[in-house]
Amino acid sequence: MPIVTSTEMFKKAYEEGYAIGAFNVNNMEIIQGITEAAAEVQSPLILQVSAGARKYAKHVYLMKLIEAAIEDTGLPICVHLDHGESFDICKSCIDGGFSSVMFDGSKYSFEENIRLTKEVVDYAHARGVVVEGELGKLAGIEDDVNVSAKDASYTDPNQVEEFVKSTGVDSLAIAIGTSHGAYKFKPGQKPQLRFDILEEVQKRMPGFPIVLHGASSVIPEYVNTINQYGGNMPDAIGIPEDMLRQAAKMAVCKINIDSDLRLAMTAGVREYLANHPADFDPRKYLTPARNNIKELVKHKITAVLGSDHKL
Ligand code: G3H
Ligand code: 13P
Ligand code: ZN
Repeated sequence: MPIVTSTEMFKKAYEEGYAIGAFNVNNMEIIQGITEAAAEVQSPLILQVSAGARKYAKHVYLMKLIEAAIEDTGLPICVHLDHGESFDICKSCIDGGFSSVMFDGSKYSFEENIRLTKEVVDYAHARGVVVEGELGKLAGIEDDVNVSAKDASYTDPNQVEEFVKSTGVDSLAIAIGTSHGAYKFKPGQKPQLRFDILEEVQKRMPGFPIVLHGASSVIPEYVNTINQYGGNMPDAIGIPEDMLRQAAKMAVCKINIDSDLRLAMTAGVREYLANHPADFDPRKYLTPARNNIKELVKHKITAVLGSDHKL
């Protein structure tokens, strides 16, 4: 099986009312946990790599690990650059074998975002690579960028058609109230998403795939385990699973998940080390971490995304 683009994945997902999970990867155990889960439930899959992940693991290591996972599982996998900040990083990932890149121009003016995104689209499309753009600004932390809630802004549906037509992007990330990281809502605050915006975007661009970033549910079980075994996380609130399910039935074809993977992995490591304080073999504590990732991803695919048995 080769590395594939998301084009066919999104087409089928849109038509059948489910979404593809886009999971952030940083190392071998994460890649193995995710791909083994997807293979077991026969789900299409996007593995995404951030600039920080490339810095941590190096592009070539991640590429080879993903190639190994494709060989091992037989899954078709889309390999995507998450939050590309510049033409150069997008180009480097396209030249280095990714099948999909995101150009995140959300911090620029509408006109500048169009201009810069189109440059990436032209380069990518000439090489058979697809591009995700972003309109609107999510709150939260990604890499070194911390967008406060007051600087975040919802996507304006009036701008979507012009953005998509002028740039030629293949999918679009929109801001409807999700945010990056584990602290998406204040303690006591009721999670809410602007489904009216999603509905309006869908009405204006029927059939066009929409992407949701910041879509971890911040599963309490993992936060509790972390805190039970020496962690000290404040109250963390994520996006309720039923809301993600609802979005997946609408125009949302790609749902980004990173924080839940981090929590699952950390919970596994903390629990193991707390119960085996004399152990110092990384294979011992990374095994439960990898198992947690696998269980989490199977749960996401079957209970939230609805992408199982859609290969
Ligand atoms: O949206 C951001 C992802 O969670 C990636 O996080 O940039 O710290 O690797 P990172
Ligand atoms: P979370 O922090 O909610 O997992 O979001 C991840 C993301 O959007 C990666 O691009
Ligand atoms: Zn994101």
